Amino acid sequence: MNIALFKDTTSQASSKQLPVNHTMLCGRYTQEHILGVGGMGVVYRGVDTMLQAFGAAGNYIAIKMACAEHENYPGADNLLFTEYEIGSRLKHSNLVAIRHFDVCRQQQKAFLIMDWIEGLSLEELLYRQPLPPDIALHLSRQLVDAVSFCHQQGVVHGDIKPANIIISPNNHLTLFDFGISRSLYQPTSAHRSAIRACSCRYAAPELFEEHIPTIATDVFAVCCVIYRLFSGEHPFQDTTDEAAARGDVIKPLFHRRHLLDKALLQGLNWSHKARSCNLEPLTRVLWRLTSDDFKTSWF
Ligand SMILES: Nc1ncnc2c1ncn2[C@@H]1O[C@H](COP(=O)(O)OP(=O)(O)O)[C@@H](O)[C@H]1O
Ligand SMILES: [Mg+2]
Repeated sequence: MNIALFKDTTSQASSKQLPVNHTMLCGRYTQEHILGVGGMGVVYRGVDTMLQAFGAAGNYIAIKMACAEHENYPGADNLLFTEYEIGSRLKHSNLVAIRHFDVCRQQQKAFLIMDWIEGLSLEELLYRQPLPPDIALHLSRQLVDAVSFCHQQGVVHGDIKPANIIISPNNHLTLFDFGISRSLYQPTSAHRSAIRACSCRYAAPELFEEHIPTIATDVFAVCCVIYRLFSGEHPFQDTTDEAAARGDVIKPLFHRRHLLDKALLQGLNWSHKARSCNLEPLTRVLWRLTSDDFKTSWF
């Protein structure tokens, strides 16, 4: 896949000229500029000075800690630890690698260390330009691989949305933010109410009542993202009860009998009982499709 989504070769995220402060955490990690802020955390770029001293290549890291408005919330550090507990067990090339959890006594902050991902958030990328279908297909395959792997490992991601996905200049996709992920087999030490924390735009309708993310809610969110990858638009105006009452109907991406449209319709079913219960059918379709399947059909 050699279509470049990035207009220049330098990383736009890394080239942002943001104020640099060089706080040191645990005498090892420098905390530099902010990479992004989410609903719960703030993520800084930093350097692992120990690995740097040993000459390791690529020692930029991303440091996540509770953002200012949450840092005094008593459970904030436990939530970060849960994110570490779940995320650090998942080793997959399309999932961010979470390396370490620590508490800096001097700064009085708990933090987790991840690989720094160079690139643009998918949200920003979709806002800037429509994606060619070949690229949309390439990214969709990586997304279903990453989420299927989580499910195979007994983890529900819980917050799949373009803002939690980074696309690197080589069109590599990385999914991150295990802030409301949950293990299907092990109770975790802390959990946030999913609906308060995740983006309502990508929340399956039942999440508004049940509040617990499941494989079926991940399937719904993945299908919303894939629909956006191909069309640039969200499949629904919104996913609240009002929209359900209106019976929002999804406009087909290609036509109703197209393999991808059929698979997405199954995954976007309002009723979780009628929705595909895993990503296997969608994965099979995505790997069957070729560029010819995206040519306009006049008949
Ligand atoms: N590993 C990373 N590399 C580069 N940027 C990151 C990384 N992790 C997070 N970010 C940036 O920080 C933002 C907030 O991170 P996120 O984990 O989504 O926090 P929250 O749990 O508060 O939503 C992201 O939207 C992204 O811009
Ligand atoms: Mg996030």
